[in-house]
Amino acid sequence: MLQINTLLLVFFITSTSYTQYIPFNNRIVHGKKGAVVCSSPEAAEVGIAILQQGGNAFDASVAVAFAMAVTYPQAGNIGGGGFLVGFAENKPFTLDYREKAPKRAHRDMFLDDNKNPIKDMSTHTRAASGVPGTVKGFWELHKKYGSLSWEKLVQPSIHLAKNGFPISEFLAYSLNSNTKKLSKNAEAKRLFTKVSSFKRGDILVQKELSETLERIAQMGADGFYKGKTARLLLNELSKGNGYITQHDLDEYTVKFRKPISFSYKGHTVISMPPPSSGGIALYGILKSLEQFDETDFPYGSAKYTQLFTEICRSVYADRSEFLGDPDIESVPLNAFLSNAYIQSILKSVRFEDEHAHSKDVSPNVGYFNESEETTHFSILDKYGNAVSNTYTLNQSYGSGIVVKGAGFLLNNQMDDFSIKPGVPNTYGLIGNEKNSIKPEKRMLSSMSPTIVLKDGKPYFIVGSPGGSTIITAVAQAIHRLIAYKMDVDLAINLPRIHHQWLPDTLYYEFGAISHDTQQILQSYQYPMKQRNVIGDCHGIVVTPSGIRVGVSSRGNGAAKTY
Ligand code: GLY
Repeated sequence: MLQINTLLLVFFITSTSYTQYIPFNNRIVHGKKGAVVCSSPEAAEVGIAILQQGGNAFDASVAVAFAMAVTYPQAGNIGGGGFLVGFAENKPFTLDYREKAPKRAHRDMFLDDNKNPIKDMSTHTRAASGVPGTVKGFWELHKKYGSLSWEKLVQPSIHLAKNGFPISEFLAYSLNSNTKKLSKNAEAKRLFTKVSSFKRGDILVQKELSETLERIAQMGADGFYKGKTARLLLNELSKGNGYITQHDLDEYTVKFRKPISFSYKGHTVISMPPPSSGGIALYGILKSLEQFDETDFPYGSAKYTQLFTEICRSVYADRSEFLGDPDIESVPLNAFLSNAYIQSILKSVRFEDEHAHSKDVSPNVGYFNESEETTHFSILDKYGNAVSNTYTLNQSYGSGIVVKGAGFLLNNQMDDFSIKPGVPNTYGLIGNEKNSIKPEKRMLSSMSPTIVLKDGKPYFIVGSPGGSTIITAVAQAIHRLIAYKMDVDLAINLPRIHHQWLPDTLYYEFGAISHDTQQILQSYQYPMKQRNVIGDCHGIVVTPSGIRVGVSSRGNGAAKTY
């Protein structure tokens, strides 16, 4: 889906210089009061209007989240879930509104009699849906931190769904390339496909979704988890192998969790704790990098690329063995967040041609199977409150099944569990016991909404979609901005690299690795592969004079300030 923009990327980068590049667009904006950065221009307009009316970052978040459920159907949602890191009243907090496994779910629910994964069951069926968390998440956020009326915040999304909006080139491309998937479900086919293909400017109207949003506007979370919407949802699930019951909807709760918080080069990084692996992995990567002097590792050089790669290999190797839903599994948070852990990562780092001998980074661990479609928004208000939010249906358009009469897509987040622990799943990926399916458990995630504080105030609000590449994308943005002192547009825009231990491959975007760096690393026997896209960061930086700089560079991104 993002390939069209990749074609427009023209980067000229050498192993020692990152300053010569031509960005493919210029979504960099400056403002004195507030900023909204997300993957939908319409939703960014909605968010900035709320801020201009005196709303705070949490009000704007509610409005943007619901607007994106209309204007960015591939990942914006009311049928999915996510994570939010906030900063309010001079204190950081996190909100976990990740989906949960239904009560009737069980460890082997996606396996056949021979205990092999049933093809597509965890991704393309009604059983693939976890209990949605988005509406409850934003309802609880609103109750705790909101200042404007709920109805007012949901209203713009109702308007967009009822009257339609002209779709972008990007959304047209996304819909057209998902026609096959969306045609398998009659409602998805009716709403999101066309006999001829979609083109920019076509008006997308979603009447049933507008009615669902109307019920949510009137009744709050009950407009989704009870009454007509719940009946329509359960009716849809009953047409197939859905596991969710009214009891699951009644019992679903979100959690305000203690953030992962650590110092990094004079700043404080605030990110998401488990059930996201994001905060812990960022700790491992950034604290390890902090031990090295950047002047010895010029940005883009083979030395730099190898160091980043080796650290990521080690962090990704460790995380899947030990992380899961902390409400159900024991998660050794303190061991991860220790100096001893950083020392163990550093011990595994190999330099120059030692890579050939370093395949034993960490035995018996697996890696993750998240899809790459997710979406992130960052918001900062004039009061100094900030929100970094990442939410998702899992794969693009979730399971591709629309709830008939309610107009929203079902998530396929159950696939983020290890559907068969210890054994490669249908995608050839490995999972583990801590992330096995259990009733009411939340599936592990890589989503890494993050706020970096400087002198105790929000300085950089950042996040990204991209499945397992979310973590490396966010880590690189922070590392470039703070360690290499790059401008925020470079920190966010420069092409990225990614390594997640297995497969033992160093992935890179076009332009991320120069020819000479590539030759050097290949001589050290690093398998390397170019990849279309590694993440899509959306960030806001606050300059020393308080100017808000919003950057959204790729895909459908939009940055607005005032
Ligand atoms: N479904 C993608 C993630 O949670 O990381």
